[in-house]
Amino acid sequence: MAQEKEDLVMNGAGIAELGFPMWPQFNPDSYIDVAECLRSGKVNYWTGNKGMEFERMFCEWTGAKMAISCTNGTAALHIGISSLGIGPGDEVIVPSYTFIASSFAVVQAGAIPVFCDVTDDHTIDPAKIEELITPRTKGIVCVHLYGVVCDMDQILAVAKKHNLKVIEDCAQAIGAKYKGKYVGLIGDVGCYSFCQSKHFTTGGEGGMVITNDEDLGWECRSFRDHGYDVRQRMNMLALEEKLPYIHRRVGFNYRMTEMQSIIGINELKRFECWNLARRLRYAKMYDQAFGGLKGIKKLPLSTPDRQNSYWWYPIILDLDALDIDAAGMCKALAARKIPCYGILWPESYLESAYVDHVGFGSANFPFNSSEYTDPASVQYDKVKCPKAHALRACTFSLFLHPSWEEVHINACIDAVKAVLSEHMKK
Ligand SMILES: Cc1ncc(COP(=O)(O)O)c(C=O)c1O
Repeated sequence: MAQEKEDLVMNGAGIAELGFPMWPQFNPDSYIDVAECLRSGKVNYWTGNKGMEFERMFCEWTGAKMAISCTNGTAALHIGISSLGIGPGDEVIVPSYTFIASSFAVVQAGAIPVFCDVTDDHTIDPAKIEELITPRTKGIVCVHLYGVVCDMDQILAVAKKHNLKVIEDCAQAIGAKYKGKYVGLIGDVGCYSFCQSKHFTTGGEGGMVITNDEDLGWECRSFRDHGYDVRQRMNMLALEEKLPYIHRRVGFNYRMTEMQSIIGINELKRFECWNLARRLRYAKMYDQAFGGLKGIKKLPLSTPDRQNSYWWYPIILDLDALDIDAAGMCKALAARKIPCYGILWPESYLESAYVDHVGFGSANFPFNSSEYTDPASVQYDKVKCPKAHALRACTFSLFLHPSWEEVHINACIDAVKAVLSEHMKK
């Protein structure tokens, strides 16, 4: 496994060295606005007003009734999952092929992740969910990986049948839509990340929870903020002065700083017209260049229902037609100074945290809890997700950062075409 990983050329982070414009690049207004905020000293969610402004803007943009900003996408998932009442004793179905945070957030809530295979569109396979349901199952985390929108109607149908909550992990899918609605509003709760590499970043870290369920939204606010009684009054500082005891439930401090919110506001202002518009234009260029090409099996195409937002552009190679696999493609592209990435973590259950049951405290909670955990559900060494496993060998991703110009996209296209034609099986 380790060897396999080393063989992949992970040159995505060094794109500037390859002569491609780096990502992220910030809206220049942020340099001025952040400096002003620092000078004002109002740098915390409760002393300034930018946190709430960012949340209001996110609501207006997505149409969500509630938006709750937070420190990062993992916190957003933790807030969403816990605020839905999911915790110790419960199980949550999660795709195996995603960043570790999608399943760790379940563990952080005290519950057990149960891993589900994916389809070749890189998202959870709705047909495989039902067989994983046990009496403990309380929810499904669906991940719109790479900005590819999950098959939501099918997921919702299973959820409805078994009375399960649906948590949408939108970390890689800012701006994606399902049947005209922004992702995050299709299930019960949507969780966004504004980490360094994402569609846009709020200065390195950041997150947002959205929901159309106001009661759930208030619960999320409370959980984010030391469990204080948010319904009493919005401003925690004022409430503290008025009442001696204000902490209604156990909560965390997952608040975003004002500087992060300012950066988020400025990125949101140019998101649709610049950031997303460019990503969609570049995706079309890749679609057109690679569609029907020998050696390529599947592209992340949008459909009328599933409007992807193209964080990255994952391509599945037809290994029957080629004499190289995805790792070989990455190496060949790196040799041509083209940024690309192999796929990461198709089988999260292989991580030693899961296989060796390394959880919290001396009891390694929740994995070894005789009270809250069914031993059969944590036999991670027995889990098999063959589709996710197979995708590792044949999938690589190209980038479509908004800081790039068409010339950069064309360079990627030309290089991929050249490598494909060099490696066609005779
Ligand atoms: C699919 C997915 N879920 C969750 C996260 C967690 O977000 P963050 O890194 O902001 O905690 C990430 C980001 O890295 C992600 O890619």
